[in-house]
Amino acid sequence: MCGIIGYKGKDNVIEVLISGLKKLEYRGYDSAGIAVKGDTVQVIKSVGRISDLEEKVNNTKIIDTDMGIAHTRWATHGEVNEDNAHPHRVGKITLVHNGIIENAEELRNQLMSDGVVFNSNTDTEVIAALMNSYYENSMEDAIEKTINDLRGSYALGIICDDSDKLYAVRCQSPLILGISDNGTFITSDIGAILNYTNKYSLLGENEIVTIDNNGYKIIKNGKEVHRDVMTSDLTDEDNDLHGYSHYMLKEIMEEPVLVNNLINKYSNDLDKLPDLSKYDSIHIIGCGSAYYAGMIGKNLFEEDGIKVDCDVASEYRYRNIIYNDKTLVILISQSGETADTIAAMRKAMENNIDTLAIVNVDGSTIAREATYKVLIEAGREVAVATTKAYILQVLILSLLSYKLKPDNKYLSDLKKLPQQLNVLLDRTGYFKKLADSIYKRNDVFFIGRKIDYAICLEGSLKLKEVSYIHSDAYQAGELKHGTISLVEDGTVVFGIVTDDFIRDKTISNLEEAISRGAKAIYVGTENTKYDDQIIVPKVHSKLQPILVVPVLQIIAYYVALKRGCDIDKPKNLAKSVTVE
Ligand code: G6P
Repeated sequence: MCGIIGYKGKDNVIEVLISGLKKLEYRGYDSAGIAVKGDTVQVIKSVGRISDLEEKVNNTKIIDTDMGIAHTRWATHGEVNEDNAHPHRVGKITLVHNGIIENAEELRNQLMSDGVVFNSNTDTEVIAALMNSYYENSMEDAIEKTINDLRGSYALGIICDDSDKLYAVRCQSPLILGISDNGTFITSDIGAILNYTNKYSLLGENEIVTIDNNGYKIIKNGKEVHRDVMTSDLTDEDNDLHGYSHYMLKEIMEEPVLVNNLINKYSNDLDKLPDLSKYDSIHIIGCGSAYYAGMIGKNLFEEDGIKVDCDVASEYRYRNIIYNDKTLVILISQSGETADTIAAMRKAMENNIDTLAIVNVDGSTIAREATYKVLIEAGREVAVATTKAYILQVLILSLLSYKLKPDNKYLSDLKKLPQQLNVLLDRTGYFKKLADSIYKRNDVFFIGRKIDYAICLEGSLKLKEVSYIHSDAYQAGELKHGTISLVEDGTVVFGIVTDDFIRDKTISNLEEAISRGAKAIYVGTENTKYDDQIIVPKVHSKLQPILVVPVLQIIAYYVALKRGCDIDKPKNLAKSVTVE
């Protein structure tokens, strides 16, 4: 992962780089750095957040410059310190890198035997050293030779002491070109430059970009390549907190409107959605919350009579998968750039299997490469822990399931959903009160069966991601087969009970936990005897998760707030995981 921005042009380079880094910070936030070039190359790095780097930059005399590169890091090779932070500088080469070089150790050893001394533990410094060793007088040649030696993923922004040009190249990791009247950008995400331009071009693998005062040139294997200039629909507005204290809260509160938008788009025009009836087996693949959205989809499509396997992408890509000619692979990804999910997609495509991408970011690798795509239209999601994107992924799965087996109740319930969601999210006072009773606990469990278990998975993940409280989800019937030993006086156990068919069973399991001292929080559609209960409106079973998960998201938010956590940027996490 990590985030890259680079710029050459007339705008203030430091402002472009720092404002870009702030918007890329969701991609990694353990350290950051910039390098600018004028008569010399000046590098400034800092451990911590972009604000720490900004302070250091503000206290430093910056050289006259019209170009620079910058990076925000999520550590993969080497601990978090300034030496390991990017940019890395070896000889005449200074560069920033997103990705992982798999043969870095081999290359490092070769370079060391040639006398190169390394200052960091990173694979990125190896790239810089290699490029420096190849550099004679042509950067294009040095880049070409370097990438020929690299195995793995990389997006690189490069400066050479001898050149006034900015260079870039990518393979597997994302990097796009931004184009404005004043200059040219390279960035991991268009969101980083929207305050300057919404014009961009995508870059193919191993295309070498050279940026100078007249614009840019893209070359592959010695030949010039033309890439269309596109216009992004996103605006810088999407980066604004709009008065909320955190993006997570803002994004949860956007859910009713976004759900309404998708309903309006699809409910009367199901032809816009792919038809799954020609498949007899579906594999749903994702990572993190996207995988848990897939678990909801598994329950929905199974009810429709289709065999469904749901797996995390990092496992799926290496397992022996049995396909048939009626298999569909659904890839769920907010970013469309998650490395494992991309690999899972490519595995299916190599087997000539149809793939359907449910993605947020149009133009992303998964959106571009899958056979079919459905965009969830969440707008930009800034908080690292996903909320609105998850809900819209589930809504798309639900609509696909409805298309397979239409019924009138679904449609009438669907139309009520946004308003019901609004009313639920308004109950903040009650959610805060519940959060008060949870925030000092060490362990929280979520139990449910079938689709309720899938809901538990996401509720539990959200809580642990943002509050750092240990939390786990269990199939309600499974708790007693081991984990119940951890239940003690005051342990919080959420019972998610929306499926009438197994309602009594889950309640019995909740009772088993209560008998051992658990404090139960019931979330369901029917009134109960429990002191702490959240009753959500009963809707069509294919829509129920869309009314329950937001409640769990908002409770997680308030628990994290009470604990003083860094809610939008939880420790050790990053939003877009573009490394394996
Ligand atoms: C990371 C994020 C999760 C996200 C997962 C998948 O782990 O921290 O919040 O669910 O990646 O991301 P994707 O962009 O593929 O949905």
